[in-house]
Amino acid sequence: MGMVRRLAGMACVVWLGSAAIAAPAPPGTGTAAAPWWQHALVYEIYPRSFGDSNGDGVGDLNGITAHLDDLQKLGVDTLWIAPMYPSPQADFGYDIADYEAIDPQYGNMADFDRLQAEAKKRHLHVVLDMVMNHTSDKHTWFLASAASRDNPKADWYVWNDGIDAAGATLSAVQKRNIHDGKAPPNNWESVFGGSAWQWVPARKQFYYHRFYVQQPDLNWRNPAVEKAMFGAIRFWLDRGVDGFRLDAISTLFEDPRLRNDPIRSGTNAQGEPNLQSLYSDKLPEVHGVMRRLRAMVDAYPGQRVLIGETYEPDIAQLDAWYGTKDAPELHLPMNLQLGFGWQASFDARWFRTRLQESQQVHGQPLLVVDNHDNPRSIDRFGDGQHDVARAKVVAAALLTSRAVALTYYGAPIGMTTATPTRVEDVRDPVGITGWPKDKGRDGERTPMQWTAGPQAGFSTNPHTWLPVNPNHVTINVADESARPDSLLSWHRQLIALRRDNPALRDGAMRFLDTDNPDVLVYRRDGGDRPVLVMLNFSGKAQPLAKGLMPGKVRTLAGSDASLPATATLEGARLPAYAAWVVTPD
Ligand code: GLC
Repeated sequence: MGMVRRLAGMACVVWLGSAAIAAPAPPGTGTAAAPWWQHALVYEIYPRSFGDSNGDGVGDLNGITAHLDDLQKLGVDTLWIAPMYPSPQADFGYDIADYEAIDPQYGNMADFDRLQAEAKKRHLHVVLDMVMNHTSDKHTWFLASAASRDNPKADWYVWNDGIDAAGATLSAVQKRNIHDGKAPPNNWESVFGGSAWQWVPARKQFYYHRFYVQQPDLNWRNPAVEKAMFGAIRFWLDRGVDGFRLDAISTLFEDPRLRNDPIRSGTNAQGEPNLQSLYSDKLPEVHGVMRRLRAMVDAYPGQRVLIGETYEPDIAQLDAWYGTKDAPELHLPMNLQLGFGWQASFDARWFRTRLQESQQVHGQPLLVVDNHDNPRSIDRFGDGQHDVARAKVVAAALLTSRAVALTYYGAPIGMTTATPTRVEDVRDPVGITGWPKDKGRDGERTPMQWTAGPQAGFSTNPHTWLPVNPNHVTINVADESARPDSLLSWHRQLIALRRDNPALRDGAMRFLDTDNPDVLVYRRDGGDRPVLVMLNFSGKAQPLAKGLMPGKVRTLAGSDASLPATATLEGARLPAYAAWVVTPD
């Protein structure tokens, strides 16, 4: 999988929003023509790691509530809370044992209601994670299903008798998984390594799990499954949540004939052949579910939103997730290509091409460069010497493009990836099975760094579930709030600008000087004044092309102290790794 871990999809029409510009609405509000989510800035919270209110070393809901003022100060308007439902935590919440309750280690329903009420007071929308592909193996649905072949839930998961091992042509992974003379029905591998099939003696059958063994896949060909899952979604919609981030959504269906997936070159972290998920991912049936889900969600008052975890290799395939005008699907499928495409690098050409493409979808784009499954972008795009300067450039690209933007806790302060150095310290199971090739996802999930004090202000307990990064003494919210040149202050500035400036909020995005290998330039047109964004991805001061914006310009945001308050661009140079946002004076 290379340096960047991509989970669910495993694999990237032109609408240049001619933008009828309205006066900026207060944060978090929307109109029928421009729903709130079209301008959202989504902040992903990993609940284990955000704030620990009860001193057990694990974050919780009250810990999130306690920090809502900080989030409001940052200027985000939407919180995506990674799963906080009851779970054995085999995949830290992505193995859900009850879709309609709160895991006691995170609090209870009253805590959730209070979090939501406090968020609403601050115009913050709350989006929950919804895992529809699989449940925990401890969910009562699965416990019932696994008990026998003839119980009422017998067909809720993907069960199969397997094939006679004797005489069959089997992959190495299948050969290692033979029970009572039966091998798994095909060569499918779990995303986390090993066969995707698990034998259950009580049924003398295998069940399919795309992810961990503890995450059996639901059988979406059974209408009862859709009914139950939609019921769980309604439960939260009725409680007032603003929407969902749909986990691993492309993998709901499997080929009914269970054909072998084709083998690609190379091996995964577990040393098994890489497969192309032709028969186990993105089956067309998933779009029917999306359309029905969208119709259900749209019937609720208050502009609820569906965000998708959609790793796609190209923009046409991403575009398909929006559905059509008459049969819409997701409001906001994530563009994960810019941040996590396998060739992603801190390079003006990479950013230009991906941002140009991002505009070619027929709905609102959503850009993501950080999440809980990939090393933090400050490390991926850094060079070890100019990491903060480069992170400012990346933040500018994210926050000044015509798109909904998604950021991840810790990214606005430049938290770094703290990958465990010893296998015995690893908590993420994939890091244990994949060690040392894949050290897992703990590195991007360490506790939030609020202060320079003990446990970074995350917890009073010195034994936090993952160690606090020692660099919290310099990288933390309190210190960076006080420094106007910090990465956090830069984020606050850009976020306020994006909210208040009509061109940045809604304006069309046009790329200029498009052959420049070092400097990415684009113009946002809207309101009565255009905005020009210039980003130097190189380590040298760069001359600016002629005619970008004639006359005198005024700086709206400049990441380098030497950038003047007003200037003319003719003959000006953009300092190394600088981001400069200007408008006609
Ligand atoms: C998604 C989640 C990831 C999880 C997987 C299985 O990719 O982001 O954290 O492990 O789905 O639910």
